[in-house]
Formats: sequence, C-alpha cells, structure tokens
Amino acid sequence: MTQKMALILTLALCFSLTKIAYAQMAPYGTEARQRAAALITQMTLDEKVGQLTQAAGLKLSGLSAGPPDDLIAQGKVGSVLWLTDVKEINRQQHLAIEKSRLHIPILFGFDVIHGYRTVFPVPLGMASSWDPEVEEQAQRWAAEDARTAGIRWTFAPMVDIARDARWGRMVEGAGEDPYLGAAMARAQVRGFQGGSLGMDSVLACVKHFAGYGAAEGGRDYDASYIPEELFRNVYLRPFYAAERQGVGSFMSAYMDLNDVPASGNRWLLTDILRGEWGFKGFVVSDAIAVGNLVKHGYAKDPADAAYKAFNAGVNMDMASLTYSKNLAQLVREGKISEKQLDDAVLPILAIKYQLGLFDRPYVDESKVEAMLSRPEGLALERKLAARSMVLLKNENETLPLKSSLKNIVVIGPLADSGRDIEGGWTVEGTFGAGSKSHPVTVLAGVKNRLRSAAPITYVAGPMPQREFPSFFDDFLGIQQLPPPTAEEIRDTLAKVKSAAASADVVIAVLGERFGMSGEYASRASLDLPGIQEQMLETAAGSGKPIVLVLENGRPLDIRWAAEHVAAILESWYPGTEGGDAVADVLFGDVNPGGKLPVSWPRSAGQEPLYYNHNLTHDPEDAPNFKSRYWDVSSKPLYPFGYGLSYTKFDFTNLHLSKTSFKAGEATEVSVEVTNTGSVVGDAVAQIYIHQRYGSASRPMRQLEGFKRLRLQAGETRTLKFSLGKEELEFWSPQAKEWVVEPADFDVWAGEDSTAKLHGEFSVTR
Ligand code: BGC
Repeated sequence: MTQKMALILTLALCFSLTKIAYAQMAPYGTEARQRAAALITQMTLDEKVGQLTQAAGLKLSGLSAGPPDDLIAQGKVGSVLWLTDVKEINRQQHLAIEKSRLHIPILFGFDVIHGYRTVFPVPLGMASSWDPEVEEQAQRWAAEDARTAGIRWTFAPMVDIARDARWGRMVEGAGEDPYLGAAMARAQVRGFQGGSLGMDSVLACVKHFAGYGAAEGGRDYDASYIPEELFRNVYLRPFYAAERQGVGSFMSAYMDLNDVPASGNRWLLTDILRGEWGFKGFVVSDAIAVGNLVKHGYAKDPADAAYKAFNAGVNMDMASLTYSKNLAQLVREGKISEKQLDDAVLPILAIKYQLGLFDRPYVDESKVEAMLSRPEGLALERKLAARSMVLLKNENETLPLKSSLKNIVVIGPLADSGRDIEGGWTVEGTFGAGSKSHPVTVLAGVKNRLRSAAPITYVAGPMPQREFPSFFDDFLGIQQLPPPTAEEIRDTLAKVKSAAASADVVIAVLGERFGMSGEYASRASLDLPGIQEQMLETAAGSGKPIVLVLENGRPLDIRWAAEHVAAILESWYPGTEGGDAVADVLFGDVNPGGKLPVSWPRSAGQEPLYYNHNLTHDPEDAPNFKSRYWDVSSKPLYPFGYGLSYTKFDFTNLHLSKTSFKAGEATEVSVEVTNTGSVVGDAVAQIYIHQRYGSASRPMRQLEGFKRLRLQAGETRTLKFSLGKEELEFWSPQAKEWVVEPADFDVWAGEDSTAKLHGEFSVTR
C-alpha cells in the first residue's frame, strides 16, 4: 500500500467529528426577538443604520468633535462608547428617548476589563490563579458596578492567545494556552452576563476576533499569518468557548488575517461564526476598524469599506461613522438589500430588549457612589489578587518573611506608585477624572502589615520611561520625563548601597509602568526598563537577602535576578488592594498558589515561545539535541504552569479507567495529590496529553485538564479528569475536519508543563 493510500484509509476510518453547528442558545429570548422584529417594521433606512452606529460620547482629539447630540436626536446612534460620567450618560439617554422618533434607548459601552472602581488584577494575573472562580467573581463585581453606573456593555473578555511576550496586549488575556484560555473565557462571560442575559447583566463582548495576538514580530496591529489548523486548534478555541457560554457580542480584530483584514473577513465573521458556530448575537468592529479598511489597502474608499465590513458580517461600526455616512446609500443602490440590513439590526435591538433597556433606560444617580464604594469589594480584590500571584523562586525559604524583621529596605520606583499597581484599562483612571479607588502600593502594604514594628527605608529611584510614548500617554496626560542624568543615577545607586548595607532584607519592587504593556505597548527587548536592573544589582552587592516583587504585564528578562536574588514573586498588576495582597503573600498570611499562564522566556530572542509546540525530528530532549540556538537554551526560564508554594506537593498513582477505548468514548484519569509539607497550601493539578502519530504532528504536550485545590499539611486527595471527544479531537489539516484519530497517547499529571508522572492509552476505531 502506498503511503498516500494508507493515509487516505486512516482518514476515512478515523472517527469524524465535524463541529456541525448545533444552534447556540440565542443571547435573547423569543419575546425580545419578536419585539425587535416588530420595531424594525416601523424603522426608516436611516434609523436602521443608526442602530448599526456606535459613536464616541465625548470630544476626543482626532476622533470625535463632541457628544453626538444631533445624531442621537435623529435616531442615528444605537450605541455610545467611552463615556463614564453618569449625568452625561443620562443626558444622552434622555435625548434618545425623548427626542428621537422611535425612542430607542442607547446601549452604553465601555472597556470594563478588570473592575470599575475596585480594580482587580489584570486579566493575565487573574489567569495565573488557574481558578476560573477568580475571574467569575471579579467580573460579576465589575458588572454590578458598571451596570449601576449606566454601562450595560463591556468590551471584555479579551481572549486572544498570546505566544509572544513582545506583544503588549498579552496583559489583557489569559496567556498562551487554548484550554486555560477557554476556561477563563467562559468564567468571564458568566461573570458579566450571569447565566443568561437579562436586566441584571452587562453584555459581554469577546475580542479581538481573531488572531490578533499572532501579530508579526509582536508588533501591535501588525498582520497575522496563521494556518487554518493552528487557527482552529489554538486561536479560536477560547472564542468558541465564549460563544458556547452564550456571549452576546463579538468584536472583530484590527489586523490583517492571512491578508484579509479581520474586520472585513467574511470567512471568519460569517462562515465560521454564524455558519459553523450558529452565533445569534452581533459583531461590533474594533475602534475605527471599518474606516481603516481603506488604510489597510483593502477597501477603495469609505463606501467600499462599509460594504466590505457589512458584507463580511460586522453589524456595528465602532466610532468611525463609516456606516453612518455610507450604508443607506449602498442600500439605495441595491448593493445591500433591506433584508440584509434588517438581519443586522435585529440582534442589536433584541439584546437591548433582553437587557431591559427599553423598560429601564436611565441610571439612578443616587445609587452610584454607594455602589462603587462598597467596602466588600476591597476585601474581595485583596483575596483574588493574592490568589493570582506566582512565586517564581524561594531560595533557603527566604519567604515568608518574619514579622519580627528589624530593618526593611524597599527599593524601586514602582513600590509607591498607586497609578501603576492597578495596571492599564482602569475605568476611572483612563477616562474618568482620575482614579478614585485609592490603590494600596506595595510600600503601603508592607507598612500596613508591620504597622510601626520596623522602620522601613525607601529608595525610589527614577521612574522608567518609554522611548516612544503612545497616544494613550498623550490622552492620559502622562508626562514624559527626561532620562536620569549620570549624577542622578550615581546618587540613586549610592542610596541603594547604603540602605541595603544595614538591611535585614531588601524588597525590590521592579517591572514596567502600566503603560509599558497593553495596547500600543509592544517591545523589542524584555529588559527591566530604566536603571532598575542596576538598582537590583547594587542592592544584591550588599549580600543581604533580596526579595524581588515584579509588577508587570508580560514576562521580563530576569536571568540575572533568577540567579542572584533569593526570592521572586510575580504580582502582575494586582489592583486596588494589590499592596496589601503582596504583603499577605510576603509575610505568609496567604500561601501563594498561582501558576504561570505563559512560558517565561530567558530572552526576547526566544519569542514566540510556548510549550505546546511540535516535536520535530530532533526533539529538544533527545540526547543528541543540538538544533535551535547555540547561544541560549531553547527552554524557558520557567515553564508554562509553573509556580512555587510555601509547602510541597507530590503527585502519585496515575490511573486510567480504560487504557484502550473507541473514538467518541472517554477514559478517566485519576491522580493522587499530597501536601507533603507542613503548612496548608493550594496545588494546581494539571493534565497534559500527546497524540503520538496520526494525520498531523500534534503538540508534544497539550493541557487538557486542571484543578486548583487546597490541601492541609499531610492531606491527600484523588482527582479525576475525563479525556474524551472534547479533549482528544483536533482539526486535521489533511482531513479538513475535526477528528479523534485511532492512535496511542501519552498523558502526564503534575504541577507544570514538565510534569513527569506518566500514563498511556490507545484510541481504537
Ligand atoms: C481596542 C479595543 C477596545 C476599543 C474600545 C480599541 O483600541 O483595541 O480592545 O475595546 O479600543 O475602547
């Protein structure tokens, strides 16, 4: 039999599991749909286009001349964004309800990404908890605040897979893994929307559909080239999970996807999203992405851009007003039918009904302040922040610190920066009159913890700056400072040296300013910016124990620190109560249990770096392995899934309920986890699989199960995970469909993606 024939036979015999669109529950009920359909029969062409138009609610230089009052009064705006002033929200809503002919309420949208006033850890941090409950609770809290303040639509969750730490927006998502990403996506949709959309929900918007994180060179907005199998097996998985969870809206991405901009990509927005998945909600473009189809060299002019985006499946145009100016004419010319227009409007109106906006359009201004200032939010934030931290190193049990320490030195400009500890995309910090959340810095947190028991010496040092500011810096009025002079550097280092000399311990709080990661914040190097590394090395020169607390939105090049400092705690941007939460972990009130949601590189040159890559003919762990770089190991500094605890765990007795079973059936993996240390702690059990052969090379490991659990000292628990169709199937590039193939598989259970405890099973025809 020729190889080709054998392959065809294998493909024909393998259990085919095409993901046929079994209709997703629409994010709105029959009544909402019927009311929407009835309303559409009364609408003029312009009013219909109005519902497909989202306008900036305020003056923004280069984007909008001011509140869109005239358009609202004429019924030509369906949604308004970037507005948080409650009085202004009510004023614009009154205009829509009282002045427009059909009194259709506006849907106000905003980026409520990780909290409203109480700011939770950045999403990459929350994903590090490996606990979907963390995301769900945080987003539920954020949704309650946002809803009370008039925001009924959030542009979250961001579920872009990020395999390259140079890409600044890694901070907004759940990292590199499709399985973890899918779990976090579902949790966030549940948090924002509840079980189903209703009066109490905030409409979620899963973004950026799709492939944005694969931007070439990690440069934000740059093109992505992703083969279909990689796209389906990795990049789409969290989006699909959000869709199954009932997410009501999708946001199309900015960049070119395989040469067709995502916001004008019919294969993506119609064939896959509506056709294969059966999505019934609506798609909004990313900001000005419809107009930008011209800039991409994809559309001839704004009319062509409106046509291409609409025809691809973008219901609503965010902020470019390209639909507003061109769609009606396209309908009059017969290029777009009125039926197509009605179909695009229907889900938007149905969702407005479902959210109860027609019945309760206004904000009760008297309730907002009390809601946003709920003190329980701070306690929740502190708890979730501590759950999100990852202990990367702890030599000689340097941590937890003893409360009896006499002389603590804190260094680093981030240690006392309230603005930075909350990270980017903070509602009141970004668009409001400044943050009202009163964030607790690490310096304040350590002081709070010790009260006045020990003197704390603080050496701040110069705040690092971006080489090239972003438009957000201009927008937020962030002042660009000149780099420190040689004298300032000498002076800072001398202060660090003398403070460290008399310290019992030095806590170095280093990393990136909040605007150094996020949108428009890609980097070519992953070094600690500014003179932070010099400060660290100077402090370490004292020979005193150094605890490095990282505040950042992506892994950094910390090779020197990993070798020379005693302990490293990754806190990400931990949020409003972040400093207290860091102190909780440093002093052992909380035992850290977070794990890395990304592979931690040694240097930027390793990127993109991810654990679930293929083996190649010269696999990395082979004795004669000699390919890849000759100057740096190909392995990460810390693997995906890694994180330490103040206790130790043992994984034993991996058992499979079946070691051979038919495609479509499942086996159950059980594993025993024991806390072998002397304090209570959280383990995260992780299950990885590998398919040894088939119609495609499969990743050397792929996460297909995890569970965070708390174990008392000495306690053992048995965990069970099912491996069936959902975990074993993949999109075969040769079969061009979803398959579970007859093959032999490896399975590993343990604490990170290098887990050793191993089993094997076979799938048969
Ligand atoms: C970002 C989106 C965001 C939108 C609205 C865009 O620049 O890419 O993530 O939701 O702005 O603020």
